[in-house]
Amino acid sequence: MNDAAPEQWEVVDRYLADHALTYDDPLTDAVAASSAAGLPRIAVSPTQGKLLHVIARACGARRILELGTLAGYSTIWLGRALPADGLLLTIERDPRHAEVARANIERAGVTALVELRVGKAADVLAELASEEVDPFDMIFIDVDLEGTADYFSRSLDLARPGTVIIVDNVVRSGAIIEDTNTDPGIEGMRQFQELIARERRVSATSIQTVGVKGHDGFSIAIVEGS
Ligand code: SAH
Ligand code: DHB
Ligand code: MG
Repeated sequence: MNDAAPEQWEVVDRYLADHALTYDDPLTDAVAASSAAGLPRIAVSPTQGKLLHVIARACGARRILELGTLAGYSTIWLGRALPADGLLLTIERDPRHAEVARANIERAGVTALVELRVGKAADVLAELASEEVDPFDMIFIDVDLEGTADYFSRSLDLARPGTVIIVDNVVRSGAIIEDTNTDPGIEGMRQFQELIARERRVSATSIQTVGVKGHDGFSIAIVEGS
């Protein structure tokens, strides 16, 4: 048990969540089912989930690609942003996570909008490219940090001018700038930052996030016109 007083930013995050969004049963149940199944507690926070939802609606997304389903918490927030004929294709390599996610997605009533592909992100991205699927309007990358630069580059082949790409976990409590930290995931995120610094096909920014998940960040990119 951790009896330490919560950081003020955690309390503030809960306060903001209480004022901006509802905790309805499917969302609450998704988190509970994820914990009960022993899955890691690394889903986006409620305020972050709602942010993804608002961005998806703001860009009028009809087709969303998500890398990293876990128990489907962010999937539900994104799925709820879609029109009735929309598609949310979500990728998860762990069949156990996918099983928990399927039940959560079903409880949330978004099964008809969601295609869950079980496999490694790199493999499924290659599959999608070879299937020549229609471009996605929004892409959310939330898988292993090592592969992020590669997934981002591959995502560009599945995008169109105007597609919004969001990447989670770009700060990791500041580890991103700690030269002594040579963790492969952190190195992967540095490679990703170097990529967006030079990749002319996107215009990007990054924003630190602080709240119930501690200190981390999102990068947000828009694909430029050809
Ligand atoms: N987006 C989710 C959280 C995803 S956690 C949410 O906010 O609710 C990251 C998930 O990605 C885990 O379930 C993990 O099993 C999966 N994952 C990690 N590396 C992967 C890879 N290379 N390909 C596919 N899935 C991967
Ligand atoms: C962690 C958080 C994440 O959002 C994620 O995608 C992976 C790991 C973590 O806090 O360990
Ligand atoms: Mg994440």
